[in-house]
Amino acid sequence: MARLKVGVLVSGRGSNLQALLDAASDPGYPAEIALVLSNVPGVQALERAARAGVATAVIDHKAFDGRGPFEDAVHAVLVEHGVEFVCLAGFMRILTDGFVSRWFDRLINIHPSLLPAFRGAHAHRDALAAGVRVSGCTVHFVRPAMDDGPIVVQAAVPVLPGDAEADLAARVLEQEHRAYPLALRLIAEGRARVAGDRVEIDAPDAAGALINPRD
Ligand code: GRF
Repeated sequence: MARLKVGVLVSGRGSNLQALLDAASDPGYPAEIALVLSNVPGVQALERAARAGVATAVIDHKAFDGRGPFEDAVHAVLVEHGVEFVCLAGFMRILTDGFVSRWFDRLINIHPSLLPAFRGAHAHRDALAAGVRVSGCTVHFVRPAMDDGPIVVQAAVPVLPGDAEADLAARVLEQEHRAYPLALRLIAEGRARVAGDRVEIDAPDAAGALINPRD
């Protein structure tokens, strides 16, 4: 079966990208990374892509007059590389409704909280401030509102006494690296499908939940 051609949008470190690259390096994985596109030049994610022999592109948003023209350029490069599905992996630009509709149900994101709790850029800080005992990460289809959309996979971790933001972030990140490849695999195999505001997963062995440390 043909592998799903995926474009990954990044802005920085790229550890989730690495998890996807590692998964896709197995020929049995149902998706291949066709392109890694960064809006920031020189980031580590681009090095990771190059090391994996994957095509890269840099589209610096600062070179554009507004989000629309920037997103048109991103869209054009994705299409040029035959990308069929897009993963956001630490991509630090808000996408407009226009881009989201062009990639509707073909665009997913990973967020470091158990959505719908703690949307936004300070998920771990907010989780600690709220005193929750469990946090985690969510892979979800992208909708125009930030950190919103049908949930594919979640992974949960404990919040431990004395945790600083960095401790919780590291514990969650480890699970992100399992959740993202799992979510993409389920989608690429046609086993996770959007149904209204939710995602239906149609295999008993593939519930979209991971519980730390091992499920
Ligand atoms: C991750 O925590 C992800 O959940 C959030 O941004 C971070 C990106 O990290 N959206 P990396 O670039 O994948 O290492």
